[in-house]
Amino acid sequence: MPATQTRPVHRTSDQDTGDQNTGDQDAGDRANLLARHPALAAFAARLGNTPVVCLPRIPGEARIIAKCEWFNPTGSIKDRTAFALICDLLLREPNPIRVLEYSGGNLAVSLSRLCADLGLANTLIMASFMPPAAIAEMRDLGTKVHIVDKALGFWAVMEAAYRMAERHADWSFLHQHVNRANLRIHETGTGAEFARQLQDIDDWGISSVDAFVASIGTGGTLVGVHSALRRIYPQVRMVAVTPAELPYASEAPPNGLPKYAGSGGLGSGRKQPFVADHESRLARKLTVRFPDSLAGIRLLNAQCGLRIGSSAGANWLAARKLARELGPDTVVATVFPSAATPSEWRAANALDKQDIANAAVLDENGEEAAP
Ligand SMILES: Cc1ncc(COP(=O)(O)O)c(C=O)c1O
Repeated sequence: MPATQTRPVHRTSDQDTGDQNTGDQDAGDRANLLARHPALAAFAARLGNTPVVCLPRIPGEARIIAKCEWFNPTGSIKDRTAFALICDLLLREPNPIRVLEYSGGNLAVSLSRLCADLGLANTLIMASFMPPAAIAEMRDLGTKVHIVDKALGFWAVMEAAYRMAERHADWSFLHQHVNRANLRIHETGTGAEFARQLQDIDDWGISSVDAFVASIGTGGTLVGVHSALRRIYPQVRMVAVTPAELPYASEAPPNGLPKYAGSGGLGSGRKQPFVADHESRLARKLTVRFPDSLAGIRLLNAQCGLRIGSSAGANWLAARKLARELGPDTVVATVFPSAATPSEWRAANALDKQDIANAAVLDENGEEAAP
């Protein structure tokens, strides 16, 4: 990680993310902040409390339960991160000159909206994978958008942000990969909600969750939600999914290959700090190829009519694999970070039957992981 981090990367204990005890103080500060910023309060009122769905049971397999995050204000789990990063910023710096951040796409959409609502100047850096209509919408909201060639991979997007943060030391760089507000919101928000909802299912509640599986972008969702779930379900295993085109911690250099949304390794052996800090908790590392994540979209749609996004497609394929392995009377929990975008849905529908039938989950070395 470069020297331009807005704060040091704190090591965390392996017991949890180390943040849950700040809840009361956070809640008090947050309430005062929302009282000062009605636009933030309006966003908060529409954030979270997303539904969970129990997917159709397959005899002999674990039950799969997923939290549907496209019900957030701009349609993805990154609304939670955007809200947490902006709250954290305004608590430290009540009048920031300009917000600076990089994004795979969904965080940019959330931040652009939230900054416009709050009247905060903002500069967002993303790759040319971003659809032109989404970029135009952000510019209309007043965001200064910088585009990095998608062929260079996501690490180049992050590096462009580091360079800009160095040139503009008076701007507020949010730095989602190390900013603990990101991790904390998934523990005290997404994960705590999920744990409560699981305890309400079937009147008696789910008595045991055997695995939680999620894609890694920053790893905030994976580690934060797992921290919350394991407080209620101590045996829950943490299973990570990353794109087979560039898995977590891969020694391969960054690449511009299409990958399922919002996730992926950083290349050249780099590790996402939140995950690296809690690596001893990782029970399993799986990978999914982009076309297979699209096949996941089609397969789940055929099963129950949901139109999930590509990272959700990867999460679901991995959850289904674990469900087969774990067998009956077990539970696998996952998140569906977004619904299918029009281009994901078109690409999923362009797959032929054979592509869909062959969809696989791979192990971290790219070998077919046994079903
Ligand atoms: C659609 C989607 N799925 C998954 C993720 C990964 O989330 P996290 O950064 O919490 O690991 C992201 C992050 O941008 C995303 O946009």
